[in-house]
Amino acid sequence: MTTAALRRASFPTSGSWSGNIGAEAAASSTSSASTAVTDAFTAPQHLPAWTHLAAHRERLGTRHVADLFAADAGRFGTLSREAAGLLVDFSRQRLDAETLDDLLALAAEARLGDGIAALFGGQAVNHTEGRAALHMALRRGCRVPAADADELARTATRMREFARQLRNGELRGASGEAIRRVVNLGIGGSDLGPRMAAEALAGPAASTPVEVRFVANIDPRELDEALAGARAEETLFIVSSKSFTTAETLANAHAARTWLRATLGEATPLDAHFLAVSNATGAAAAFGIPADRVLPMPEWVGGRYSVWSAIGLPLLIALGEDGFDALLAGAREMDEHFRNAPLTANLPVLMGLVGLWNADFIGASTLAVLPYAHGLRNFPAWLQQLEMESNGKRALRDGTFTAVATSPVVWGGAGTVGQHAFHQLFYQGTHCVPVDFIVTAGKGDARRQALADNALAQAAALTHGRSLDEARAALRARGLPPAEIERLAPHLEIPGNQPSTTVLLADLDPASLGRLMALYEHKVFVQGWIWGINSFDQYGVELGKEMARRLADDPDGARDGATLGMQRALAR
Ligand code: F6P
Repeated sequence: MTTAALRRASFPTSGSWSGNIGAEAAASSTSSASTAVTDAFTAPQHLPAWTHLAAHRERLGTRHVADLFAADAGRFGTLSREAAGLLVDFSRQRLDAETLDDLLALAAEARLGDGIAALFGGQAVNHTEGRAALHMALRRGCRVPAADADELARTATRMREFARQLRNGELRGASGEAIRRVVNLGIGGSDLGPRMAAEALAGPAASTPVEVRFVANIDPRELDEALAGARAEETLFIVSSKSFTTAETLANAHAARTWLRATLGEATPLDAHFLAVSNATGAAAAFGIPADRVLPMPEWVGGRYSVWSAIGLPLLIALGEDGFDALLAGAREMDEHFRNAPLTANLPVLMGLVGLWNADFIGASTLAVLPYAHGLRNFPAWLQQLEMESNGKRALRDGTFTAVATSPVVWGGAGTVGQHAFHQLFYQGTHCVPVDFIVTAGKGDARRQALADNALAQAAALTHGRSLDEARAALRARGLPPAEIERLAPHLEIPGNQPSTTVLLADLDPASLGRLMALYEHKVFVQGWIWGINSFDQYGVELGKEMARRLADDPDGARDGATLGMQRALAR
């Protein structure tokens, strides 16, 4: 795309923004930020700070983090930060204050400040698609482009009205019975965010007048499970698909219609049993959902950033307005922190830089995310899409390919469950596996306190490990003979030095979750900006979709022998 085209794709920078937040961002976008995305780009390894960081890597290469703690009693104070309702501790990472200084220098040399201003100022940071990425506007974390303000306000009102009616038992199906079950049909960003947050916040204790379920997979089993015990007369489906072309979602929508018809009859109009969240009103109408039951979302909201938009409708239904508003407010708090805090105190900036250090200097190709909260068991799945679909890329802003590692493989699961499964590899395996521990304060409940203590214990054990001498002492204490001690000691030795970050939330409440989600969203932006990646497109995923379409259209058009072989096996 040419510079001129990029500029056309950007939103106006003054005089046509609405809302009362983001004045600074809009103003600054008229200056350096207006060209930030199109300016000549320098790959990070060519920036002066990169060389200094490589020297830190040499200097720290043989130092164990346990030694760094022993040498510096104030390490926690120096390398942890508290802001926007979160405490984030980086002191268990394989770095020191000098390293952090040079990581911050790298951010400055990469003009991250201009990047942040460009993001909040509505520049086309999604330069391959000529779009802004203004998901923050949905939570009033920056201004809404004037051209979209009315539509956005209308959608917010309609969405809240639908949710209110549903929660009050006022929304009725074709037979006049109140809707009691809502099933969201969507995949990727049209599923993961609302599903994860609803699970985290609506919990078993919440009094939800309507049951909200989520279906993503084209495997009929997921829809069957979501409909178990449901009555067609009381069931409403939300078809959540920005594009209204996603095969899995459309297949499930058709299956849902068949299920409704089996009970309600072929002649009954099904309008009252469907809502859609989509930009493709025409396609939704062709499916049979009229425009007055379709909620749109702005083009400048990407799928994985869309939980804050009408895609959040099932979440709004599950939580009610107070809960949903608190989630938005928490995220907005993080937006304001990200936009205004100096880089050295800025949580998303620091988190992004520490992740870059691990990927590019420590050589870690993975990130394990371990929420110590059952409610957050699907947080890693949400984060996987956010990080890997955003930064799992190699093409740079200037059209060249990256020479350094980009997004790690993000995975994880709920603590303490993983401790009894995969943590073994962290302790004695051969890979460096950085971990993000997400911990919520115990608040006087003994088991929740034990949960938090477990997280802290794991983080400490992964730092310090157990030396050969300590292993021998433990075996000696068991009364084993010397030869047996020598035979077993290497099996008990644990090297430690596994890097980790701990994020502490005051509680698992909507505001804290909003802050946490926005923290990671902005961290992804920081990394993408410095690496020179467009974090907001997803051409890779689209090839997979295209291939599935091609196979469906022409089963004999298999691309290679393996596909053909498996097709034949499936047909047997
Ligand atoms: O498959 C990739 C993707 O395009 C994601 O980016 C998106 O969140 C998901 O599919 C769902 O897309 P849609 O909302 O258009 O159905």
